[in-house]
Formats: sequence, C-alpha cells, structure tokens
Amino acid sequence: MIRSVIAGIGMYVPEQVVTNQDLLKYMDTSDAWIQERTGIQERRYAHRTQETTTTMAVEASRIAIERAGITPQDIDFIVFATLSPDYYFPGCGVLLQRAMKMREIGALDVRNQCSGFVYALSVADQFIRTGTYKNILVVGSEKHSFGLDFTTRGRNVSVIFGDGAGAVVLQPSTEEGRGILSTHLHSDGDSAEILAMYNPGTHANHWKEEKYADFDDAEIGQMFFSHAMIDNGQIYPYMDGPAVFKKAVIKFPEVIMEALQANNLGPADINMLIPHQANLRIAQFVQQKLGLGDHQVYNNIQRYGNTTAASVPIALCEAWQEGRVKPGDLVCLAAFGSGFTWASALLRW
Ligand code: ACO
Repeated sequence: MIRSVIAGIGMYVPEQVVTNQDLLKYMDTSDAWIQERTGIQERRYAHRTQETTTTMAVEASRIAIERAGITPQDIDFIVFATLSPDYYFPGCGVLLQRAMKMREIGALDVRNQCSGFVYALSVADQFIRTGTYKNILVVGSEKHSFGLDFTTRGRNVSVIFGDGAGAVVLQPSTEEGRGILSTHLHSDGDSAEILAMYNPGTHANHWKEEKYADFDDAEIGQMFFSHAMIDNGQIYPYMDGPAVFKKAVIKFPEVIMEALQANNLGPADINMLIPHQANLRIAQFVQQKLGLGDHQVYNNIQRYGNTTAASVPIALCEAWQEGRVKPGDLVCLAAFGSGFTWASALLRW
C-alpha cells in the first residue's frame, strides 16, 4: 500500500520580534490582556519591503527540500496555502515555482485560511496515493503584518497574528504502517462572514444599500475597492472572536476524534497533537477535553502568534527539531478557521 510520508520539513520566521509591549505604540491594549486572552507574548513581522509571503515560503521550502535529500528541480507539484498572497492573483504557487527555478510543474493555491495547510496536505496526499506524483511541496506562508488595522479599532484581530512559513516535502512510501493514515476535511459556510476580509471582493454587500440603487455598472465597478472602504477600515480582517472561540472548541475535538476513530485509535495513542495555533486557550481546552498530557500537545503561539496557514507546519517543524516527534510516533494535525473550515490529518512519523 502506498502512503505519503513527510520526507523533509522546514520553517522560516522573520528576524523582527514584536512584543505585546511594542504594540502599545499603535493601539490601546496591554501585555496582560493579550497574554490572558490568547497566550501570545510576541510574534514576528516580515521585513517591510524585502520579505513577502513567497520569499518566506522559499526559505522554508529550501530547508524542507534539502532535508528530503532532493533539489527544487525534483519537485513534481506545489500546493501553496495562504490568505495573504503577494498578489490578489496570480497565487503564490507560481511565484514560488519561479523563485525556486523549478520545472514547469503544476502549482495549486489553497484558500482555506487557518486550515489551509491541512487541506493542502490532504490534496497532496491524494496525488501521492494514486501514484501521480513522487515529490510534492506543500507550503503554508503568511505575511499578516502588511494587512492589519494597527489602530485601537482593529486590536482584537491585530494582536493575534504573526508572519512566517512552513513547508514539507511529501513522498510515497510502502513501509508498513508509516505515513499519512487519513485526512478529514469539513466546512460550514453559514458563518463565512464572522471571520473574514470582505474587500476587495465581488460580494456587493455594501452596494445593496438604497443609496447605490441608481449606480450604473461603471460606478459599481469602481467600488470593488473604494476610498470609503479604506476610510471605514473595511479592508481589514473582521472577526467575531467569541463566536469563533465557541465553534472552535467544539470542532477541534470532533475532527481529532474522527481521525482517531477512522483508524481504530484513541486519544491515548497520540504521541503529538499539533493544533493550529489559533489561541492558547483553545488548545488548552482541546487538550483537556481529550484528556491529553502536556507531553502530547505542542504549542508555540506564545512566540509566533497565529500564523494561520503556516502555524501547523511551523509547529510540526519545531516539535520535530526538538526531538518531540520521532520515527514511529502517531502525530495528529488539526485546524479550524475562517469559513468555517476545519480539518485533521493523522500520520505515523
Ligand atoms: N486589548 C485590549 N482590549 C481589547 C483588545 C485588545 N487587543 N481586543 C479587544 N479588547 C476589548 C474589547 O473591546 C472588549 O471591550 P468591552 O468589554 O469594553 O467592549 C473586551 O476586550 C472583550 O472583548 P471580546 O472580543 O469579548 O474579548 P474576548 O474575551 O472574547 O477575547 C479573543 C477576544 C481573544 C479574540 C477571543 O474571543 C478569542 O480568542 N476568540 C477566538 C478567535 C481566535 O482564536 N481567532 C484566532 C484567529 S482565527 C483562527 O485562527 C481560527
């Protein structure tokens, strides 16, 4: 039986450390509020002009590819997850292909926000299992610091997010019991607007208002991205934090249990749970609900904040580098985020 194995893993976080205290320069907040609500102490911000979502992905990918013992030219397919792409289009996959001088391989962009990496891994897993590709680069990268509202108006969102990238190389293996055992993907679009960035977009939510009824196509067209949106802060992510929290603490344990049950396993069998680093309180709640010990869960949100699509591969990479993920270990990846979408992957390292 062919299964996908992680043959190489890499991560990159920018040099600039931004503490909670640093954020006081911009907004009315406090270190105590941020730590108490989220567990975050500091995060990294990319270099303003020299680093992008793609350049950080390149750094993480180089390490993953080298650790897999191959070269960028050996990669057969790219799956790139991000919500903060360099361009509105084209996606970052092709920019990574260009930057790493890869062959004219397929490059797919995944837009599933916090669960983007687990979704991307699941897509790549299908191509490996069917024998379509031999070396797939799966990447999660985010440059949030360029698109946050640093005024007090946006503080409930801005303090949470950080920049960084993580990448893995997936390869086929026939080694008994090793590799990705199963992946589980879900969505519920009913809550799409409670954690979202509406603009620029084609949704026309604002334009339904009476005052725009007489606008012609040209005028409406100009509203794809308008001065009013900028003035009103409607170009920044919106989040109803308490609503996200309530749903996340239900769906995280549910999707982890789904993965375990699909493989006739239980929480006690998990050697390492890598939850999406959304909020330390959510991770602690999940840990408690599943009855997991501290040694079974990896958290690094304290140092990096929430890096969305990059958070799972960064945490997995650090856990592996620290020797907390070893050959034969049962590793569970789980994520929940905007959409809502949520997902899990169970793998034998
Ligand atoms: N500093 C100080 N005060 C703040 C800040 C801040 N950064 N942000 C909000 N507040 C204030 C609010 O204005 C509000 O004040 P008020 O009571 O005077 O109106 C008060 O704090 C409480 O606001 P809430 O939004 O109710 O705060 P809550 O305790 O729910 O914490 C938080 C907010 C941390 C966002 C929480 O709801 C949460 O963790 N939600 C889960 C969402 C999440 O983890 N998102 C991560 C990104 S999405 C993802 O990865 C899936």
